[in-house]
Amino acid sequence: MLAVVPPPVTVRVPSKVNLHLSVGDARADGFHELTTIFQALSLSDEVTVAATEEPGVEVYGEGQDSVPTGGNNLAWRAVRALAARVGRPEDELKVRVVLRKGIPVAGGMAGGSADAAATLVGLASLWRLELTRDELAEVGATLGSDVPFALYGGTALGTGRGEQLVPVLARHTFHWVLAFDQRGLSTPRVFGELDRLRSAGDPPRVGSHDPVVEALASGDPRQLALLLGNDLQAAAVSLRPGLRRTLRAGVSAGALAGTVSGSGPTCAFLCVDAESALAVAAELSGAGVCRTVRVAHGPVPGARMVGGDESP
Ligand code: C5P
Repeated sequence: MLAVVPPPVTVRVPSKVNLHLSVGDARADGFHELTTIFQALSLSDEVTVAATEEPGVEVYGEGQDSVPTGGNNLAWRAVRALAARVGRPEDELKVRVVLRKGIPVAGGMAGGSADAAATLVGLASLWRLELTRDELAEVGATLGSDVPFALYGGTALGTGRGEQLVPVLARHTFHWVLAFDQRGLSTPRVFGELDRLRSAGDPPRVGSHDPVVEALASGDPRQLALLLGNDLQAAAVSLRPGLRRTLRAGVSAGALAGTVSGSGPTCAFLCVDAESALAVAAELSGAGVCRTVRVAHGPVPGARMVGGDESP
């Protein structure tokens, strides 16, 4: 009798921007206590998982040459973590994962976490696992701090390492322009630089996240623009001083405000509407301050199958 091979599953997964990122002290485990508000953006990756006799990872698109395809790839680590969770032996991992990247690599937009999240959703379907999204998020949190958010999407308040999430009401579609830098920045390096800046002085810290929650509920991008704040921005700018120019250029081009996204170096500019975002993107492309410019909107849903049903 012929074995039935399940058809490949493709999952689209969003990037994220941090509208507010407050970094506390380093914990004993090396991670920093965060209070952050994430928004999932339409700039996304597509991940296909397929049953195969040749297991492994392939990467195409944005930054394809700088993504490792071996056992360290976060998507492959997601395969192993899910297999361990459901008791599948390692030597039976006959899965191929194909990443089509739109999210910049090491860009502060959680691209690696997105790929891990998408792999979990894709495999849960391929292997017909009865796991809820909360259960997938538990597995995801062991892989990276931003994996649970990539599973849920929307707009959310994150605490702990950023993995403990509560949804936040956002009454509007917000329009963004994203400026990709020439090269990525290592997240641990940026956190380390913030620790160094704090031991040498007292760089200003973002305030409470409450006004950001109110601005999101009001849906007014002008109100939200005044409140964008990121404790990691000073550290990213310290390591990559050219970002100062990029941030200025976006505002000169007509954005309401700009912020470094997460640990950077991608800069995210909030615009008043979709039309303004296109105009800002066009002007920023010509300003020579970054490698690539993209427009995006948010909030959008978390990782979900393309053209299939929504389970799990
Ligand atoms: O969890 P993730 O793999 O994304 O984290 C990458 C690195 O960023 C961690 O190893 C740590 O150095 C730093 N980090 C941190 N505090 C957080 C999240 C990440 O110090 N809350």
